[in-house]
Amino acid sequence: MLLNPRFNKLCTWRESDQLSLLSVSLRLVSTNFHPQSKPIRFFKAFATMVKAITVHELGGPEVLKWEDVEVGEPGEGEILVKHKAIGVNFIDVYYRKGVYKAEKLPFIPGREAVGVVTAVGQGLTGRKVGDLVAYAGNPMGSYAEEQILPANQVVPFPSTLDPILGAAVMLKGMTVQYLLRSCFKVEPGHTILVHAAAGGVGSLLCQWGEALGATVIGTVSNEEKAAQAAEDGCHHPIIYTQENFVERVKEITKGQGVHVVYDSVGKDTFQGSLECLASRGYMVSFGQSSGMVDPVPMSVLAPKSLFLTRPSLMHYTTTRDELLRCAGEVFTAVANGVLKVRVTKTYPLSEAAKAHADLEARKTTGSIVLIPDNS
Ligand SMILES: NC(=O)c1ccc[n+]([C@@H]2O[C@H](COP(=O)([O-])OP(=O)(O)OC[C@H]3O[C@@H](n4cnc5c(N)ncnc54)[C@H](OP(=O)(O)O)[C@@H]3O)[C@@H](O)[C@H]2O)c1
Repeated sequence: MLLNPRFNKLCTWRESDQLSLLSVSLRLVSTNFHPQSKPIRFFKAFATMVKAITVHELGGPEVLKWEDVEVGEPGEGEILVKHKAIGVNFIDVYYRKGVYKAEKLPFIPGREAVGVVTAVGQGLTGRKVGDLVAYAGNPMGSYAEEQILPANQVVPFPSTLDPILGAAVMLKGMTVQYLLRSCFKVEPGHTILVHAAAGGVGSLLCQWGEALGATVIGTVSNEEKAAQAAEDGCHHPIIYTQENFVERVKEITKGQGVHVVYDSVGKDTFQGSLECLASRGYMVSFGQSSGMVDPVPMSVLAPKSLFLTRPSLMHYTTTRDELLRCAGEVFTAVANGVLKVRVTKTYPLSEAAKAHADLEARKTTGSIVLIPDNS
């Protein structure tokens, strides 16, 4: 007798063999797969299929396909999570286009979600079915109704918070936490420059930066975004599509320059950002929404003894302690009102292509979130 763990079904060896044949044939007809799926155990009756967004070829938003994929069962140290809300981040665009290389094709994009644990791997303690959890970062594959995750990559999600808000703030909020508290430690009296100040990360950088006592200068592409940035604590919004942001920063800082630039725009702003920095200022180049930054000669740092870093969230949340501390500070900042998360639009998961098109066309402000059709 064998116990089928998913269907809780006892079966004889003969039945089991038949089921295994069925399982094999199901695998043969199934062309799609979930990157984290485990090989089906030989006695498993039916492949568990869920809906997901897949990328079979790199390209524009149209390469995002809505398909049935097979999700396996959680192995040792793993959990199965049914998603309630999924964050959309610019990094998802980089992988879809091939700016960052996925390990293989096809793949399921997405690096952030909030959901409920529906199964736990053998021997796992500390997580149980029914737990509400959130994750941001590794592994990729959150654009799916369900996903298998390493249990040590998720954090408990407070039941007092809305999962949609959680999916809007996990990755972006944790990014802002490490940028402002670790990468360069912002203190009262600092002047900071934030590019794309009305975007998902930018909006939170303005809010938290202001709360830390910094003078916040922000760049945005239009009047509406400037008004939003001002609401979020940006003291000096600059419309960089109409004004020369380098000249404006010099005026605002009376020629002193800023202590740190948080530059996620990349190609179009990098050079100007260096010019905005004060002597011994920090150039934090943490993204490239406008394209990859050209190679930088060391000599550009010398005239002002500048510091340059190209940080990544995953390197600031490497240990379990770092992850819990970073996420904990974000949840606290939300709970005590330091961060007012802007969820400006939600899309059904099946319409992820529309969400990507809007994000890339600079039509979005704040965070956008995908909602699984079965959530
Ligand atoms: N390194 C890390 O750890 C880390 C972690 C999270 C995010 N990031 C980076 O942070 C950035 C922001 O991510 P997000 O998800 O919050 O996106 P987002 O800021 O909401 O969207 C990107 C914004 O960039 C601006 N932009 C300027 N030129 C652009 C162009 N040519 N095409 C598209 N957008 C352009 C637009 O704002 P305007 O219209 O106002 O110019 C746009 O709204 C991304 O570069 C992302 O890679 C890095």
